[in-house]
Amino acid sequence: MADVNGVFLWYQCFKKTLFVILALLINVNEVSSLICYCAGHCPSNQPNGSCLARPNSSCFSAVEQVYNPDTGLLEDERTYGCLPPEENGFMQCKGHLVPHQIPKSIACCNKEDWCNKLLKPKNIVRTTTPSPMYQGELLSYTGPYNIISCLVAVSICILILIAVLAFMWLRLSNQKSARRGYLDVEKKFIGGEAVKDLIDRSGDTSGSGSGVAMLVQRTIGKQLEMIESIGRGRFGEVWKARLRDEFVAVKVFFTSEEASWARETDIYKTVLLRHENILGFVGSDIRGNGSWTQMLLITDYLEFGSLHDYLKLYVLDFAAMVKLAHSASCGLSHLHVEVFGKQGKPAIAHRDIKSRNILVKRDRTCAIADFGLAVKYKSDTNELDVAANTRVGTKRYMSPEVLDEAIDVSQFEAYRMADMYSFALVLWEIARRCKVNGIVEEYQLPFYDCVPSNPSFEDMKKVVCVDQTRPAIPKHWSTCETMQIMSKVIQESWKQNPGARLTALRVKKTLSSLESQYRDEKIV
Ligand SMILES: Nc1ncnc2c1ncn2[C@@H]1O[C@H](COP(=O)(O)OP(=O)(O)OP(=O)(O)O)[C@@H](O)[C@H]1O
Ligand SMILES: [Mg+2]
Repeated sequence: MADVNGVFLWYQCFKKTLFVILALLINVNEVSSLICYCAGHCPSNQPNGSCLARPNSSCFSAVEQVYNPDTGLLEDERTYGCLPPEENGFMQCKGHLVPHQIPKSIACCNKEDWCNKLLKPKNIVRTTTPSPMYQGELLSYTGPYNIISCLVAVSICILILIAVLAFMWLRLSNQKSARRGYLDVEKKFIGGEAVKDLIDRSGDTSGSGSGVAMLVQRTIGKQLEMIESIGRGRFGEVWKARLRDEFVAVKVFFTSEEASWARETDIYKTVLLRHENILGFVGSDIRGNGSWTQMLLITDYLEFGSLHDYLKLYVLDFAAMVKLAHSASCGLSHLHVEVFGKQGKPAIAHRDIKSRNILVKRDRTCAIADFGLAVKYKSDTNELDVAANTRVGTKRYMSPEVLDEAIDVSQFEAYRMADMYSFALVLWEIARRCKVNGIVEEYQLPFYDCVPSNPSFEDMKKVVCVDQTRPAIPKHWSTCETMQIMSKVIQESWKQNPGARLTALRVKKTLSSLESQYRDEKIV
């Protein structure tokens, strides 16, 4: 213990002696010190003048940006002085190489007394990384730490790049698999027949039923080559796809919408449903890999898309307007009508008639689509087959009795009359796009001027049931006979009292005679 204390005392003594020698040496050396100009950096806050730079030290001249509260600007402030000898002036003189929050530049000299007075270092604009011309210097004096940090930064960048590329690759391959039909798409086509041949071979020799060969239905999902997504609705996404050598539209139902898919498939399979103004059904399929299932509904692909899209793009003449309106009424009338007999067709009410659910064919006639909510009725058995899903129609097109829940849901006729109200709104949309005496209205949805873009039940109820408002009939329609007939059909179909509305058959007949006039005119 005594030995330890002795060593400690000896060490303290040695340290003190070393300090005294060093102090003496410094004082001796001060004789050969450098005189520098000082301003703003004078020793012990002396006024501007001179300072003594210790041996091996330097004079410096610095410039710094300082905020001037009077002008509200950053201004250059220059200071001069003597550098402390500890770092040989190295750190300070190279300080401007390192990014600072406030840019600062220092120039040093030690050649002669007052050498710093004429030094005017330039202000360096702040950067987060040193400018390339200084990088060599920086690396050389900060040594391996900078090399390591550079390597770390480069490695992080490479890792991020790899992650981004991997993410992009995954997305791309997902899209590709979606196009291919997601799953195990086997491109094994049946024979060399076209889709229509297969449909016609369905056993429905009349060709007017739903007519889809079971062979097609069981394998159809695997034969599809998805091309592009063409639309998205509340119940699924619609794709343009290739089936053998033809284009088809494939509605991929959201998994939550199985009931809508089942309903629509069921309606399309109804015997005798096939009609030129009902969207042609190709098949329906379910596919999955155990962890997910996809419900597909395949129909004819109609390149003009929905009537809604069409009307937004095209202005109509009388013939075109009547053709669209008449063909749509033919489709609705065919749907509504019950065909009696052994191979009879039940009456069907659509329940979601709107311009988005009517498509336009290449010959500019309409085809009714989207039967996910439809009801079937057979009068001989008085059987009413209502969709089992929770889906509701589109509020904007809902009839007053649907909106105020006064509709008698046990009566098929009530659904038919509700369809007629919605159909009248579609006819109004068509008629507005007809050029009359050089005037044409811009495309608008019904009630565009009374309710917001996504109206609530309450919004619609107030307008349709309480105020009993209907879309405005433009004044200039009264100047022409065709438009007078159109507006009469429209107004008689959207009456408040469902029983007073025209039937689809009546509308079809009226528009048919109107259309024949234009047909005759063309022949003449
Ligand atoms: N057979 C088809 N041929 C060409 N385009 C189609 C076909 N079926 C649907 N489309 C397009 O896909 C879009 C989406 O159709 P979808 O029925 O899914 O939704 P929606 O009718 O717009 O709304 P909702 O879900 O309320 O019915 C349509 O608006 C139409 O443009
Ligand atoms: Mg639709």
